Amino acid sequence: MTVTQHDLAVPNTRSHSRGGRNFEKTSWIFMRASGLVLVILVLGHLFIMNILDGGVQRINFAFVAGRWSSPFWQVWDLTMLWLAMLHGTNGLRVIINDYAQSGKTQFWLRGVLYTASAATIILGTLVIFTFDPNLA
Ligand code: HEM
Repeated sequence: MTVTQHDLAVPNTRSHSRGGRNFEKTSWIFMRASGLVLVILVLGHLFIMNILDGGVQRINFAFVAGRWSSPFWQVWDLTMLWLAMLHGTNGLRVIINDYAQSGKTQFWLRGVLYTASAATIILGTLVIFTFDPNLA
């Protein structure tokens, strides 16, 4: 079956940006820029963790401990976490604006999205910086 644009729900047409035009423009540019950086970070991550040098079989606590003893990989993983979360959250923010009908639904969906996103960013950041290799 071929999906055409007529099969898709029509997005909301009224303007819903609170920050004004500049915020939506910055957000548009951010999606493209973060997408480009994510291609490098995610493909690099995939290649190094899952393909190179024995791939996924060699990943264990010692491997992670060795990797995170280097500031380079800490910054790599931190950037990947923040960019993927902000990119994904901003993408879902736009989808909520486009498709949630009532203001109340938008409010609650945004609340769940921002809470889950903030929790994931904070927990992930804490794990990268407070990881203790002597736990094992
Ligand atoms: C790997 C490289 C990635 C590239 C090149 C990329 C690129 C893009 C671009 C250009 C958009 C904007 C589309 C538009 O405005 O119409 C977008 C939207 C989006 N991206 Fe990504 N992205 C990547 C990774 C991710 C990741 C890791 C996530 C999830 C964490 C994600 C979630 C989303 C979501 C939810 C949207 C909104 C979809 C929509 O507007 O229909 N993307 N992506």
